[in-house]
Amino acid sequence: MKNISIVSVLALMLGITPCIAEEYSSNGASPKGDSSLKYVEFSEMGNPAKVLQVKADTARALENGEVRVKVLAAPIHPSNLLQISGLYATAPELPSIPGSEGVGQVIETSAGVTRLVVGQQVLLVGGGTWRDQIIAPAVSFIPLPDLGTLSSGMIEQLSMTAVNPLSALLMLTSFVDLKKGEWLVHSAANSAVGGYIIQLAKQRGIRTVNVVRREGLAEDLMLKGGDVVLIDGPDLAAQIASATDNAPIALGIDAVGGKTFTRLAQSLNNGSTMVSYGVMSGKPVTLNPAMLIFNDIRVRGFWLSKWFETATMAEQQAALGQIIPLILSGALSANVDSRFTVSEIKQAVERAAQSGRNGKVLIVPNPL
Ligand SMILES: NC(=O)c1ccc[n+]([C@@H]2O[C@H](COP(=O)([O-])OP(=O)(O)OC[C@H]3O[C@@H](n4cnc5c(N)ncnc54)[C@H](OP(=O)(O)O)[C@@H]3O)[C@@H](O)[C@H]2O)c1
Repeated sequence: MKNISIVSVLALMLGITPCIAEEYSSNGASPKGDSSLKYVEFSEMGNPAKVLQVKADTARALENGEVRVKVLAAPIHPSNLLQISGLYATAPELPSIPGSEGVGQVIETSAGVTRLVVGQQVLLVGGGTWRDQIIAPAVSFIPLPDLGTLSSGMIEQLSMTAVNPLSALLMLTSFVDLKKGEWLVHSAANSAVGGYIIQLAKQRGIRTVNVVRREGLAEDLMLKGGDVVLIDGPDLAAQIASATDNAPIALGIDAVGGKTFTRLAQSLNNGSTMVSYGVMSGKPVTLNPAMLIFNDIRVRGFWLSKWFETATMAEQQAALGQIIPLILSGALSANVDSRFTVSEIKQAVERAAQSGRNGKVLIVPNPL
């Protein structure tokens, strides 16, 4: 992901001069002899529960322009686990500290820092967030607006701002111009991205067929604003036709791959679009050419990193400018399954890799 781009965008949105984020630093002599600061690191690719190590660091004095930030919450995303496993499209330089995003609080500032004050809450968008504390130049952090004391629940929601809600918004709005009352179908509907798709669609009056792979999720997804919740299976297309009274469906959004992708495509109207953005099943997609020839199904892919590379600054500002207020107002949220400290990283990644979770797994190094 082009982190600098996110920093710049958020900075612009919040009225700050955007600057280039520097690498997070963690070495040096301790001013206080504190050796209890922990961080997660991997120096080889493999099973996250095996290759991730918890390391202790010594706090060092700040250099001019730097701030010390304690990490309040940082999510574990499927892409983090794939990258640690060596199965993602891009590989980090090793050793690497994982973590895409998060929220923190400034606990110390150095001489020359005027834009951040102690106590201020900031978005962490430079990566390497699975750790107790981060020392970096003040320009690396995005100050959140002063909204008084934020609840721990809101801190957790804000820690998930930059990846999943944005992906949901872009997939909902970039491929098909869905009008009020029209339908989309999507898989892994109980994932965080799925939940954001439901909430954003509902806000636009767009109706959703929500496909999941297990029982017990309908109540939560209907509460989020879903219209129909169905369990994936060989008769999915028939189930969808029946549940929607054969309504035309113009957009399919898939995070699973394999047969789920095929079934979603089978439920679409002629000339409709299937968007692939994840492959949770690990299985390749197959599509009968008849669907392409006779039904004119269009197949597209979505990758947020690519969008950040190609979107203009104005487009990035507009997208993020929609997301942050919705999170702050509570109109956009994701379920949280469990919380772990940095020391508990092995349990955390094991839980994040399990099926049947009730939401996201968060690293919460410094609970409020
Ligand atoms: N392309 C992009 O730019 C982009 C951006 C953001 C996210 N993503 C992708 O979006 C997907 C969802 O991310 P997230 O953070 O929202 O995930 P999440 O909240 O961690 O949820 C994971 C979801 O995947 C489902 N799942 C796991 N294994 C599955 C399998 N074998 N078959 C079917 N469903 C399975 C889970 O179902 P259960 O609850 O039943 O276990 C759950 O609904 C991931 O693939 C992620 O990489 C892509």
